[in-house]
Amino acid sequence: MDTISNPPSKSFLIAFLWFILSFAPCHSISTSSTSDTMFAGQLLTANKTLVSKERKFELGFFTPGNSKNYYIGIWFRQVFAVQKKKTIVWVANRNKPITINDSSSSELKLIENGQLVLMITRTQIPIWSTDSTPSRTMNDSSVKAVLRDDGNLVILSSTNGNVLWESFDHPTHVHLPGARLGYNGLTKKAMKVTSWRNTEDPSDGIYSIELGPDKSFSLIWNGSQKFYNSGVWNGRFFSNIPEMQVGYGFMSSFGITSYENGSYDFIYLLSNKTLPFGNFLDTSGQSKASMWSSETRDWTVIWTKPLLHCQVYGVCGAFGVCSENNIGPSVCQCLSGFEHRYPKDWDLLDYSGGCARRSTLQCGNEDSFSKMPNMRLTKISPSANALAADNARKCELACLQNCSCSAYSYNTNSNSSGNSIQCLLWYGDLLNIEQLSGDEGNDLYIRLARSQGHELGSKTKASTIWIIVGVVLSGTIIFLGITFLFLRKRGIRRLISRTPKQEEAYAFLTAFRYKDLKLATKNFSDKLGSGGFGTVYKGILPDSTAIAVKKLEGFSQDQKQFRSEVSTIGLIQHVNLVRLRGFCSEGRKQMLVYDLIANGSLDKYLKHQNDSIILNWQQRYQIATGVARGLAYLHEKCRDCIIHCDIKPENVLLEVDFSPRIADFGLAKLLGREFSRVMTSMRGTVGYLAPEWTSGVAITAKADVYSYGMMLFEIISGTRNLKQFKNGKMSFFPTWASRKVIAEGQPVLSILDNNLDGKADIEELNRAFRVACWCVQEEEYQRPSMGQVVQILEGLLEVNPPPILSYLQVIVDNEDTASFFSE
Ligand SMILES: *[C@@H]1O[C@H](CO)[C@@H](O)[C@H](O)[C@H]1NC(C)=O
Ligand SMILES: *[C@@H]1O[C@H](CO)[C@@H](O)[C@H](O)[C@H]1NC(C)=O
Ligand SMILES: *[C@@H]1O[C@H](CO)[C@@H](O)[C@H](O)[C@H]1NC(C)=O
Ligand SMILES: *[C@@H]1O[C@H](CO)[C@@H](O)[C@H](O)[C@H]1NC(C)=O
Ligand SMILES: *[C@@H]1O[C@H](CO)[C@@H](O)[C@H](O)[C@H]1NC(C)=O
Ligand SMILES: *[C@@H]1O[C@H](CO)[C@@H](O)[C@H](O)[C@H]1NC(C)=O
Ligand SMILES: *[C@@H]1O[C@H](CO)[C@@H](O)[C@H](O)[C@H]1NC(C)=O
Ligand SMILES: *[C@@H]1O[C@H](CO)[C@@H](O)[C@H](O)[C@H]1NC(C)=O
Repeated sequence: MDTISNPPSKSFLIAFLWFILSFAPCHSISTSSTSDTMFAGQLLTANKTLVSKERKFELGFFTPGNSKNYYIGIWFRQVFAVQKKKTIVWVANRNKPITINDSSSSELKLIENGQLVLMITRTQIPIWSTDSTPSRTMNDSSVKAVLRDDGNLVILSSTNGNVLWESFDHPTHVHLPGARLGYNGLTKKAMKVTSWRNTEDPSDGIYSIELGPDKSFSLIWNGSQKFYNSGVWNGRFFSNIPEMQVGYGFMSSFGITSYENGSYDFIYLLSNKTLPFGNFLDTSGQSKASMWSSETRDWTVIWTKPLLHCQVYGVCGAFGVCSENNIGPSVCQCLSGFEHRYPKDWDLLDYSGGCARRSTLQCGNEDSFSKMPNMRLTKISPSANALAADNARKCELACLQNCSCSAYSYNTNSNSSGNSIQCLLWYGDLLNIEQLSGDEGNDLYIRLARSQGHELGSKTKASTIWIIVGVVLSGTIIFLGITFLFLRKRGIRRLISRTPKQEEAYAFLTAFRYKDLKLATKNFSDKLGSGGFGTVYKGILPDSTAIAVKKLEGFSQDQKQFRSEVSTIGLIQHVNLVRLRGFCSEGRKQMLVYDLIANGSLDKYLKHQNDSIILNWQQRYQIATGVARGLAYLHEKCRDCIIHCDIKPENVLLEVDFSPRIADFGLAKLLGREFSRVMTSMRGTVGYLAPEWTSGVAITAKADVYSYGMMLFEIISGTRNLKQFKNGKMSFFPTWASRKVIAEGQPVLSILDNNLDGKADIEELNRAFRVACWCVQEEEYQRPSMGQVVQILEGLLEVNPPPILSYLQVIVDNEDTASFFSE
């Protein structure tokens, strides 16, 4: 996004000086004082610049990175002053660079016909000019070019003040605040923002942003392939970017203006106009809105679309593999047997050239295949042809027989109507190959020259061995660390042992016999807790595994339905969700068996009984983020969306390292109507339930967001949200906190748990407070999604100051002056 520009080299300056002294033209811009205006006949030469009135933007020559080419561009002056790097927002001659040999004799000149021309003095050859066709007859000696404080370079006719041309109508790779991004209803053409080719070459790259006739914008690869769409403008926001309603406080306004002729413009304005800001289309194909922070003296990315690198079409080029888990500077690598086609471009973060074979294919039976595990097959383009083949060898042969077949896969595909075996063949250059982690994805077999297959085989084996050694070593270290912590904290206790066996999906769960569970829990004697749906007991299995057994009480469900619901819950696995190990269903006895989580539930750390540990801020933030991730997974990533319905500190369990796991998910589905009966009857005592539970409207995932917000307030304050004081008054923490911070402008530290003595990351605390306020909004549409909450907590998405929570006040008689923490 930002380019480094070295100052012009010494020899260049000397040459330039010599040039100036010998042929100094009479009207070059004065060097002593900066100006924002160029008049007709004036020149801008290599070391001179135009500076906007309030000194926000500067226009002049620059060289990106180590490039030897010169360009005319506009950059943020303030950022350049601090970083000594020019963050370029517009380039005049992006596709027509000035070579180093011509750099000393090039000049930008405003001529009387209203054209701004960049030319080589020596040859009088124009390199670039403002492309508007100025009236040939015009001869206006008082025409002028002005660099404005919004970064717009405009050419004005002095006779009527008309704008003859403006750089905002010709954006390059940045959409600046105040600039229109328009769609022309007559020509059916849209203004385009196009990425740089690489970090040192501003010429038109492979990615662009374009508006469509339907009032949405798309990210496009190579002029045609759309891979991201904002959704249609609905009058308030783009339908796929609902966070625009909540998280876009840095903009004072944004919107689309439509005209009768079918044209429309999209414009956004900033709340604080002093901050450098731009929406940059990165060479990575991601659109990144970035704001300059004068505190960190660096750019902060506020939002990124698409969020993940591998969601960008063709990001690693032909035969390149994208992996979000790559360690190193790039998400891209070549398939084994391939090498960077243009290694220099790869160094400059331009992967569009992709990878080339190390040895050319022989065709026919001379070729072999190398296996790539964990590949996402559905995204590879061009897409595959399916073939009827009942064994892997037949599939391989089918690929081998056609010279242009470059890969095949042979997999068992499970879908709702059963398992099917599929042989897929891909032809030509393969794009969008993505490698997943863990057990995800399928094997893909890549065609290679035979000689290569062998050479590679051994290499792969060697690196695999190293990986295994690494994994075993780090695994051992982690295991020892956990063991140590565990023994120190808890005394001698049997450790949970997990067998990393590759099990079939349906075999994840064990069906326990009642008498075995009775034995394991010593006749249900060691009670861990109880809630609305039953009691939880601790147990130890014969193989020393510690378990938690939840005895469902007051329900009895059809055995078959119970088993089927339980087995779908068993498929849901995530680091922030408690793992279901199995179940028991004998007659009316129905139980769920979970992994035992060492440190128990969050509520006991928030109550601050004398003996309980006080969680530090870092641990609290980790818990908040982890729970948000777990919920986002339940809401958005699982095959069937699951609403937890009962988020509260009692249902957040903590591991030895205090990383959180959500318990009891899926119960709402398992227990059906009984569940909501219990939930609504608990209203009033709990305080985590969203208002829609009693208003009778359908419960959506936003109900979990509300409960999460309530819990987040408790994590911040370390006390229950609802509190009765000695004088009998009731106070509701979220209302009190929002009034104190938002209305009274008190520092956010004033709502932090007193036990932390103000030791918290203010930035994180502020995010947590704001997101908590948004989560507990009465209107569901005002609450963010859990995915957005994760992004906000991770600092990827900015969050607006929330409104004061007034509706909660009706629940309790809250006194303005009451301090929540004082007794
Ligand atoms: C730019 O060029 C002028 C001569 O026109 C010279 O006096 C001045 O020192 C140069 N500025 C820099 C920063 O080199
Ligand atoms: C620049 O000048 C050098 C020496 O005069 C010459 O070797 C080189 O080819 C020139 N480069 C270009 C791009 O004209
Ligand atoms: C523009 O007008 C000036 C005098 O008004 C004249 O000297 C000049 O030649 C004219 N230029 C063109 C291109 O007509
Ligand atoms: C982009 O499209 C053009 C044709 O429009 C094609 O010639 C070129 O090879 C494409 N680029 C890549 C990297 O595929
Ligand atoms: C469409 O109408 C608007 C407002 O009347 C005008 O500014 C714009 O130039 C028109 N567009 C075209 C392509 O005529
Ligand atoms: C805008 O931001 C600057 C720098 O952070 C700050 O000094 C200034 O007070 C802000 N202005 C407003 C109106 O918020
Ligand atoms: C190889 O496969 C491609 C794509 O299916 C097909 O167009 C081509 O005719 C095939 N070539 C041969 C020799 O079968
Ligand atoms: C699921 O598998 C069946 C059996 O092989 C197949 O006929 C069907 O087309 C598949 N359905 C989908 C949606 O892929």
